Amino acid sequence: MDTLQEILKDTAEYIAWKLEEGETTAEVSPSVLLELAAGSQPTKQTVAAASSAKKSSTVAPASTGTTQKTASVGTGEKVAPDDDRTKKLQVLAEDIKSCTNCPLHKGRIQAVPGQGNPNPEILFIGEAPGADEDEQGLAFVGRAGKLLTKMIEAMGFTRDEVFIANVNKCRPPNNRKPMREEMDACLPFLRQQVAILQPKVIVALGATAVEGLVPESSKQRISALRGHWLSFEEIPVMPTYHPAYLLRSPAMKKPVWEDLQAVLQHLGRPIPKRGASQ
Ligand code: URA
Repeated sequence: MDTLQEILKDTAEYIAWKLEEGETTAEVSPSVLLELAAGSQPTKQTVAAASSAKKSSTVAPASTGTTQKTASVGTGEKVAPDDDRTKKLQVLAEDIKSCTNCPLHKGRIQAVPGQGNPNPEILFIGEAPGADEDEQGLAFVGRAGKLLTKMIEAMGFTRDEVFIANVNKCRPPNNRKPMREEMDACLPFLRQQVAILQPKVIVALGATAVEGLVPESSKQRISALRGHWLSFEEIPVMPTYHPAYLLRSPAMKKPVWEDLQAVLQHLGRPIPKRGASQ
């Protein structure tokens, strides 16, 4: 059972993260605030990270890695013309860019399909583009993106060797959390990306990404989910904290590094000495 202290901590962390993302408001329902004030457990998950406990499913470790290609998709550079996956990803990216399936398309500068290696061992999934990503059309290029790059490099990879995308491909107004209907409208794109990329592991960055990929996990806090394998389209998913949250709470880099080490172990990869994002 969540203690009041845990709920308060998660709520504070969630608000701090949203502020870091450039939001001027954060969604906390009156019922959560009332229950926090009363010192009891919220009955509904109205704050992404403040929710009741539920067991996560486990996935057995897989085998070792494959040779990496260095072509990138979505960056407009180093695209391998003969790569079938690259072509499929490009076609899909065009579909994403012209999508009007949910209201988020109305506020975007451009949709952000994601970019990276068409044959990645690891697919990193975030929540949705922020202002920088909306402007540049690339996932994780702002401050949080720079920290994600350090995390990837700490694992012994480069950004070009992995694929980086989001649950939602369009920026929500004021970087608010995407609504369930918006996630559901966008998920077919992610399913197609996963089917093309066939990553060995997905790393879900933050509570919203986990919730998007594994809706049944949404009753559980990210602090409870992280480090425990889930699955999406039969691909093992490692939930961990969002890099934007790490910018505000550097002490959380340690558990994130533990999660990334579990991913490396799963891939049969050596574990570099230095920790994540240091
Ligand atoms: N945060 C995300 O979740 N995704 C991005 O692409 C950038 C910031």
